[in-house]
Amino acid sequence: MCGIVGYIGQNDTKDVLLNGLEKLEYRGYDSAGIAMLNDNGMNLFKVKGRIAALRGRVDETVESTMGIGHTRWATHGVPSATNAHPHQSTTGRFTLVHNGVIENFQDLKRDYLGDVSFISETDTEVIVQLIEKNFNKYQDTAEAFRQTISLLKGSYAIGLIDKEDQDTIYVAKNKSPLLIGLGDGFNVIASDAMATLKETDQYLEIYDQEVVLVNRSFVEVQKLNGTVVDRKPFTAQIDVSDTEKGTYPHFMLKEIDEQPFVMRRIIQEYQDDDNNLKLDQDVRDAMKACDRIYIIAAGTSYHAGLVGKQFIEKLANVPVEVHVASEFSYNMPLLSEKPLFVFISQSGETADSRSVLVKIKELGHPALTITNVPGSTLSREANYTLNLYAGPEIAVASTKAYTAQMAVLAILAVDTAQAKELQLDFDPMQELAIVANAMEVLTDQKEAIEDLAKNYLATSRNAFFIGRSTDYYVCIEGALKLKEISYIQAEGFAGGELKHGTIALIEDGTPVIALATQSEVNYGIRSNVQEVEARGANAMVMSMKGLEQDTDAFVVPHVHELLTPLVSVVPLQLLAYYAALHRDCDVDKPRNLAKSVTVE
Ligand code: F6R
Repeated sequence: MCGIVGYIGQNDTKDVLLNGLEKLEYRGYDSAGIAMLNDNGMNLFKVKGRIAALRGRVDETVESTMGIGHTRWATHGVPSATNAHPHQSTTGRFTLVHNGVIENFQDLKRDYLGDVSFISETDTEVIVQLIEKNFNKYQDTAEAFRQTISLLKGSYAIGLIDKEDQDTIYVAKNKSPLLIGLGDGFNVIASDAMATLKETDQYLEIYDQEVVLVNRSFVEVQKLNGTVVDRKPFTAQIDVSDTEKGTYPHFMLKEIDEQPFVMRRIIQEYQDDDNNLKLDQDVRDAMKACDRIYIIAAGTSYHAGLVGKQFIEKLANVPVEVHVASEFSYNMPLLSEKPLFVFISQSGETADSRSVLVKIKELGHPALTITNVPGSTLSREANYTLNLYAGPEIAVASTKAYTAQMAVLAILAVDTAQAKELQLDFDPMQELAIVANAMEVLTDQKEAIEDLAKNYLATSRNAFFIGRSTDYYVCIEGALKLKEISYIQAEGFAGGELKHGTIALIEDGTPVIALATQSEVNYGIRSNVQEVEARGANAMVMSMKGLEQDTDAFVVPHVHELLTPLVSVVPLQLLAYYAALHRDCDVDKPRNLAKSVTVE
C-alpha cells in the first residue's frame, strides 16, 4: 500500500519519478506527489487523484537531478492534496515520503511535538517534524534521521531529502517493502523493482530497522546504531515487457489470458528432465514431518487455500486448517504438536499474514511461503518458499496468481503423498496440462461470456453465486471478483445453505450464478437452482462437460474433478471483467482498493 520512488543521479528526475509512480499505482491511487531538489530549492507538486493528474500539475520547466515521489492509499486522513506525500517540516528544510503506519504517532506528537502546528491529518507528518526537531538538537541530518527512526513503532518505508544537501537521499525501512536500485552514476529507491526496471536490474535489499544513505555514486547501509552493513546486490528477474499492457485494454484481461501459459510454466518449473516432481528436499521433509498444516492467507489467496486444503487432505492425507490472516492472531486455535504453517500470498507483503508469521516464528514453528514474489518479506522470513511463476500481476483483482496458487498447492500435495509413499492415481503434471488447454478454450469464448455479463449483470444491484463442495470455494472467489471491480453486491453461498436464511433475499430478477462441476453434488445444486428460480431468480448454470444439461448457460471443458476450480473460475473472472466494463468501472484500479495490503 502506497508506493515510493526516488532518484539521485545525473539526469532530470521528473520522468523517472512519474514513470515509476505509474508502475506503482497498483499499490494505491487516491493521491500522489513528487518533490525535486535543485539550486532554487525544493519543488513540490501534490494532487488528489491519479498520477495522470499529477503529470498535469508538475511544472515541466523544473529541472533537478534528485527527487522522491509517492502514490497513496489513505490510512490516516482523507485522500486530498494536503494529506498527499511528500510532507515537509515546518521550516521546509526536510521533505519526506512514507509507506506504512506509525502506530505511536499520537504519543510522539504529545511527547516531542507539542509546539508544532500540523498541516495534514497523517501519521507521516510526525516523522518529518521529528526529524527537524532532532536536527535542531544534533545539527547532523544522518544522526537526526537515525534518532527519529529509532523512536518509530509500526511499519515504514521512508525516503527523506534535506534541502541543504543535494547529494543524499536518506532511506529507512521496517516491515514495508523498499529496495535500492543501483546504477552507473545514479541510484534509485522503489517500493517494487517494477517501478525502476527501465533504469536498472541491480537491486539491494534493505532489512528491517536499517537506514541507507543513497548518494549518486555510492550506497551505504547502516544499522540504527550507525554500524555499516556490507550487502551484495541481486538481479531482478522481471522482464520489462511483463509489466506493460501491450495491446490489451486492461491488465486484468491480459492476466486472465496468461493463465494457460502460467500453468505450462509451473509444469516446467516443478518437473525435472525425467518428469519427476522437483521440489526442494527441505520442503518435502517439512511437509512429511508435520502432523497438521495451518494455511494462512487473505482475500483471493485465502480462497486458493480453501481449495488447497482439499488437495492436501485428499491426496496427501494430512489434516489442514485454513485461516484468514487478520483473524488468526486473535483467535489462534489450539495447535497440534508438529504444525507447519503455509502462507499463501501473491505479493508476499500482506501485513496481516506477516504479523502471523512473526508470531508463529516466536513460538518456534516452521513456515512455508507460497508467493509470486521471491525475495518478498513473507518469502524471506519463512523457512521455505515455493514460487508461483505467474509473472507480475498488476491488476488489483487477482486472477492468474489465484490459479497458480492452486496449481502449486496441487503439486505440493502430490509431492507430499509421494514423500509419504502413498499410492496415487493422479498425475498432477498431466492433469495441469489438460487444465491449461481447457483455460485456452475458455479464454477464446470471451464473446459468449460478455453476453452473459450483459444479460445477467449489466443493471443488477446484487448477485449470488452458489455451489456445493469445491464449487462453493470458487463461488466465493467469483463473488469477490465481481464485487471488487463492478461494485455489484455479490455473495458466494454453499447451495444447501441458502434455504437457511439467505434465500429471503431472492426476488424477481435476482441474478444467481450456479456452478455445477462436481458429480457428487450435481443433483443437489440443480435442486437449489430450482428453489431460487421458483422465487423469481434469474439463474444461470455453469457446468462441466459431462455433467451438463440442455438449459445450462455455459459449459466448461472436462478436467480432473479435483482441479475444476482452476477452470471454472475463468468464466467467473471474465464475467466480473465484462460486468465492470459495461458499468464503466475502472477495471484495473477499483475504488478504495490497493494491490499490496501492507497495513494491518
Ligand atoms: C482480490 C485480491 C485480494 C488479495 C489479498 C491478499 O482480487 O487480490 O483479496 O488476494 O489482498 O493479497 P496477497 O495474495 O498479496 O497476500
